[in-house]
Amino acid sequence: MSGGPYSDDRSNRDRSIANPAGAGAGTAQPVAGGGEAHAAPGGPYLVGEAMTGGYGRGADILHGCTIAVERGEIAVIVGPNGAGKSTAMKALFGMLSLREGAVTLAGEEITELAPQARVARGMGFVPQNGNIFTSMTVEENLEMGAFLRRDDFRGTMEQVYDLFPVLRDKRRQAAGELSGGQRQQVAVGRALMTQPKVLMLDEPTAGVSPIVMDELFDRIIEVARTGLPVLMVEQNARQALEIADRGYVLVQGRNAHTGTGRELLADAEVRRSFLGG
Ligand SMILES: Nc1ncnc2c1ncn2[C@@H]1O[C@H](COP(=O)(O)OP(=O)(O)O)[C@@H](O)[C@H]1O
Ligand SMILES: [Mg+2]
Repeated sequence: MSGGPYSDDRSNRDRSIANPAGAGAGTAQPVAGGGEAHAAPGGPYLVGEAMTGGYGRGADILHGCTIAVERGEIAVIVGPNGAGKSTAMKALFGMLSLREGAVTLAGEEITELAPQARVARGMGFVPQNGNIFTSMTVEENLEMGAFLRRDDFRGTMEQVYDLFPVLRDKRRQAAGELSGGQRQQVAVGRALMTQPKVLMLDEPTAGVSPIVMDELFDRIIEVARTGLPVLMVEQNARQALEIADRGYVLVQGRNAHTGTGRELLADAEVRRSFLGG
């Protein structure tokens, strides 16, 4: 392999994760641009191709499920409870062993890599549950996110605080004392501290009010606009598809419908079955 997983780190290092208003359009380095140096072909950045598998020796939960996110795009997975959305995310992150299928990151197959190794290669994952350390302060949570880094991560922390200003105000508070929406910001911020090249979020708006949901979506769009591909699972299907470049409807571990967010929102069958008409 020419060029290791960090071959384009230099160009990504200075990238603003949130491209705050003052930064100007020119400073945001899209991942696609920063990635020119390595051998990745033009395909989607992260792909789980025809994934089949389940937990331990249990029955298969995923049945040939395919999920992909392109550079610079937001991909959204929706579907009923128990459809296997979280399982698909865990499969992409290496938390279950697939019986069939493959996971590819930036053109390299990583199907056998452990989750930790995937983090080192640029995958940032915010799981659905247990995604923050509640007894630690906000700032300690962010520091935990940087555990793999050897360089100075203060700049990234400032970027996270610029993206989520309330976290700066509450940085000395225990994360467990924060509201649901603020905790989700901590979880996303913690993932961003690794300077990921792809961000995976499992139900980032679970249990928050519609207003807080809108705010979180705005921040997620902001992050995606810097060129960071975002793959997220959402139970707020309609709102999520509205911001999705690509949408996946999963049913019983299978791809039921796939298309642009707009196509899925316009699809009569998707509307009737999954969007309440
Ligand atoms: N850790 C686990 N061990 C065994 N089965 C699990 C585990 N997590 C989820 N499942 C099962 O996998 C199926 C899909 O669950 P999940 O991926 O969490 O669905 P979703 O996220 O779409 O609601 C369900 O039948 C669930 O009971
Ligand atoms: Mg789930």
